[in-house]
Amino acid sequence: MHELKSTTGLAKPELYSQLVSELRSLIEGEPDFIANLANASALLFHSLPDLNWAGFYLLRDGELVVGPFQGKPACVRIAMGKGVCGTSAATRTTLVVPDVNEFAGHIACDSASNSEIVVPLIRGGELLGVMDIDSPKLNRFDVEDQAGLEKFASILLGNG
Ligand code: SME
Repeated sequence: MHELKSTTGLAKPELYSQLVSELRSLIEGEPDFIANLANASALLFHSLPDLNWAGFYLLRDGELVVGPFQGKPACVRIAMGKGVCGTSAATRTTLVVPDVNEFAGHIACDSASNSEIVVPLIRGGELLGVMDIDSPKLNRFDVEDQAGLEKFASILLGNG
């Protein structure tokens, strides 16, 4: 059993460094990508404050299909180029959206979401999907979250 460490009171750099080390120990020796995504979504959801959704969309036959996540049931399929997830996937860039209501084409899976960060998952030049994290708070994610979550994704992909 993995006992989650408390993240209360940690500044973001320390928080993400702890999360990355917890992720490393959770996925160590486990080659099943879906199993690792499932534990990664639980780790994120229970360790980062002010989230209402944390999980993954995986590229399947040219579209994004919901994968392991924590939060309310979500949209199952997202076309490439659509919404924040589809735009991040199509452009292969991390998107930090301070107010989702201002993002043209945002797909509201949970009306509680007000800000969002999406990190593309790329291994060996191949796009595997995206990691999507939503918050009910406006402007929840900043450059420190982006750096921490990109590092987290690289560990998950075995690139880190
Ligand atoms: N808001 C996302 C859709 C996924 S849900 O938030 C879980 C988007 O616009 O792509």
